[in-house]
Amino acid sequence: MSTNPQTADLATPLKFAYWVPNVSGGLVVSTIEQRTSWDFEYNKKLARIAEDAGFEYALTQTRYAASYGADKQHEATSFSLALLGATEKLNVISAVHPGMWHPGVLAKFIITADHLSGGRAAVNIVSGWLKDEFINFGLEWLEHDERYVRTEEFIRVLRGLWTEQNYSQSGKYYNIKDFTLNPAPLDIPGRAHPEIFFGGNSTAAQATAGRVADWYFSNGKDLEGFKENIAGVQASAAAAGRKPRFGLNGFVIARDTEKEAKETLREIVAKAHVPAVEGFRDAVQEAGPSTKDGKGMWADSTFEDLVQYNDGFKTGLIGTPEQIAERIVEYKKIGVNLFLTCYLHFQEEVEAFGRDVLPIVRELEADLARKNDVELVGVK
Ligand SMILES: Cc1cc2nc3c(=O)[nH]c(=O)nc-3n(C[C@H](O)[C@H](O)[C@H](O)COP(=O)(O)O)c2cc1C
Repeated sequence: MSTNPQTADLATPLKFAYWVPNVSGGLVVSTIEQRTSWDFEYNKKLARIAEDAGFEYALTQTRYAASYGADKQHEATSFSLALLGATEKLNVISAVHPGMWHPGVLAKFIITADHLSGGRAAVNIVSGWLKDEFINFGLEWLEHDERYVRTEEFIRVLRGLWTEQNYSQSGKYYNIKDFTLNPAPLDIPGRAHPEIFFGGNSTAAQATAGRVADWYFSNGKDLEGFKENIAGVQASAAAAGRKPRFGLNGFVIARDTEKEAKETLREIVAKAHVPAVEGFRDAVQEAGPSTKDGKGMWADSTFEDLVQYNDGFKTGLIGTPEQIAERIVEYKKIGVNLFLTCYLHFQEEVEAFGRDVLPIVRELEADLARKNDVELVGVK
């Protein structure tokens, strides 16, 4: 894949994040042996391993009821806050559903988290797909594209309350009148306010993300698939005069040989928890498959894809450390800025990723920058 100068940022080192396993069952819906745990002690140690291994971000999941297995769930914002307290450098991104929160309450919560953590709090605004969580809580379940109308207003409120005094906004879902949140978020160089990530794949998601998100997060995709998403988001971002960055999910299986890595994938899929995967496939019909153009998250996912419930196998980070590093840099060439990674055995594999894969990525990034006469600044 050749470098796309319109979208690739060769001067900035790639960033790495991991999914916080704050729900039970790990990140694959499989009965394969997993040493990953959803409890806090495990996660505290994992977060410390990750920041030492070179990861800049951790992302929690917001889930109130069982789905894709995940029978037990820790609440995302409180769990994120506890992880911030247990670490020194890691930025923790908390997933939040607009339909479950008032944006003013969230804005205040995140300001406090930001002060408690020295400016490391961030949010991932997710529009949701698990209808039963909303219906059974007695909340309104909006039709697909309407969820993004609400999400856009929600993000505008967040940003407004974080950056302005006497902020007012009136809309279909939220009406804020002359409000000043005091204190404001910390003043961190290079950051206008706590970062706003946004997860979604559909046409409506891409258009909304382009207008209001700092970061667009996608489910796993192959190179061609993600190029399309980048183009979609950038079209709407350009019209709004914005420049969001791009994060992509990928399930990492790094082993000494490609054969071993592929065998691990085969075993994960062979031991899939079939009823849970099928239940999940039915539930996600509310996401991408329910859109008018049929595009979006999980719209074209096979059974195997759904065993990693964010399509992480599709990104193809499966093989030797060299193969994975090469593939990662291919994605950098098309415009990926951050990899959101998940693993079978998180603690061991996050550490191994930092030790075995990251140094090769850094070398390849340096080569790529040199070949393109670009200076690569500040590898963290
Ligand atoms: C990186 C990422 C993280 C997500 N995290 C959550 C989550 O924690 N909880 C949730 O209900 N949905 C989560 N979602 C799913 C979104 O809520 C949304 O349903 C999904 O992106 C479908 O979007 P689409 O129909 O616009 O393609 C996440 C999506 C992405 C890409």
